[in-house]
Amino acid sequence: MSDDWENARTRTNTPLFSAGGPDLKQFDEASGSARRASESVSAPRTVIGIGNKGLSYISLPDYSEAKIVVAMVGLPARGKSYLSNKLMRYLEWLEYNVKVFNVGQLRRKRAKMQAEQSGVKADHTATYFSHDNDAAMKLRDSLAEDCLDMLIEWLKKGGNVGIHDATNSTESRRAKIEARLAKEKGLVLIFLESVCDDPAVIAANIALKVSSGDPDYKDMSREDAERDFLNRIRQYEEVYQTITEPHLSYIRITNVGSQVTLCRIHGYLQSRIAFYLMNLHVKPRSIFFSRHGESVFNLQGKIGGDSSLSPRGKQYAEALPALVTKNIGNAPLTVWTSTLQRTIETAQALPFTKLTWKALDELDAGVCDGMTYEEIEAAYPEDFANRDDDKFNYRYRGGESYRDVVVRLEPVIMELERQENILIIGHQAILRCLYAYFHHRPQADLPYIKIPLHTVIKLTPKAYGCDEERYTVPIAAVNTHRPKPNVSGAEHEVPVPSSARQYYST
Ligand code: F6P
Repeated sequence: MSDDWENARTRTNTPLFSAGGPDLKQFDEASGSARRASESVSAPRTVIGIGNKGLSYISLPDYSEAKIVVAMVGLPARGKSYLSNKLMRYLEWLEYNVKVFNVGQLRRKRAKMQAEQSGVKADHTATYFSHDNDAAMKLRDSLAEDCLDMLIEWLKKGGNVGIHDATNSTESRRAKIEARLAKEKGLVLIFLESVCDDPAVIAANIALKVSSGDPDYKDMSREDAERDFLNRIRQYEEVYQTITEPHLSYIRITNVGSQVTLCRIHGYLQSRIAFYLMNLHVKPRSIFFSRHGESVFNLQGKIGGDSSLSPRGKQYAEALPALVTKNIGNAPLTVWTSTLQRTIETAQALPFTKLTWKALDELDAGVCDGMTYEEIEAAYPEDFANRDDDKFNYRYRGGESYRDVVVRLEPVIMELERQENILIIGHQAILRCLYAYFHHRPQADLPYIKIPLHTVIKLTPKAYGCDEERYTVPIAAVNTHRPKPNVSGAEHEVPVPSSARQYYST
């Protein structure tokens, strides 16, 4: 609380706002410290060389109180791993610390180790999953328990959301999870059930399972693998109990995208998880990204602004409809642009419905808007160095950081999940953030992702990521990618995005 406030209290000897209770005092203090923390510097353009790390950096969000266990429920091939993976990517993008603990992966990992030690390969064919197989039942229960223990340990060490990816398909298994968590303080438990009765989706999931390099089916023909997996599903079906326990907190998703049941979902993060899951669908579709055509500012090396397209940029805008229509055929497509001229001009000739989003406007460079990188380095050398040092967190004076952009793009992500074919005509920083969400790229790499001009990037969501194709239109354009200084060429190389399932990662 400031001295002035204290003096005012002493002078009048009456509590301010006449209430004066402890709550108001607490509120005063809290808002006082919030005001102090938000003292932002917005330096006038003429000031040279101001700024240092401490002032231009923003603090990380504090999610240390958020501790949630999401326990999956569902038969095999019902998309549990798909949902776990999507949820993890979304929450990680929002900077929560999330980890999937997959019981099947743990089983395979241990079996592999045992086989290496003993030379005897464990039998994990369908009989292992029969509820009549007492020995295997015990082993499976203890694997699920160990996996939960690992998850709890990880949450205690700073994790926010641990996803227990297992079938958890009986009331007794769920009761065990509940009892284990009751021994812990401050952990919230939500069950997430995935029900699917669409034969086409189940068949696709089965096909994916047996062709994904799953070690369970490594040495089997595709037909044998499919037969065995179907058998395994049958074993589970015999004992499966959909979640209806009224005292439990749960989300049931039926045929992803068609029906959601919520029971006892309270709290901010829990509601956010539920809201995200409500927006998902699994219909095949593609998301296309293109930057606007080359702009006049791009040619001049200036950042930001609201300039028009250059002559080459206009050529790109003219070439775009043929490329997009050839790719999409007769399928419906909606085009999203920012509110800035260069994206609207690029979309002009596209024969599709167009929507304009303010949230898609380019990262706001604040006092540096309209300058070249060289001018920024000369005018604000410290800021320039700070940005190179930590580009994701650096916030332009009076403008934004990549972190800020990620936060403002959250509604765009939510809407993208709900929609089918979308083409976004956007900007370099914006498309990097969206691309990072779909390809699960870490924050440190995000601001350096290559999104060249005059290139269409097509992402096709798959169960474990997205497939990617890039179409470069043969119309020259400037290169606006500024690599991280003092980093070797090899370090700039970006891993090829993969939508394949990774095994043995737990
Ligand atoms: O140079 C084009 C541009 O879209 C600028 O408007 C924007 O400030 C910049 O790219 C973002 O890229 P970076 O974060 O690498 O400076």
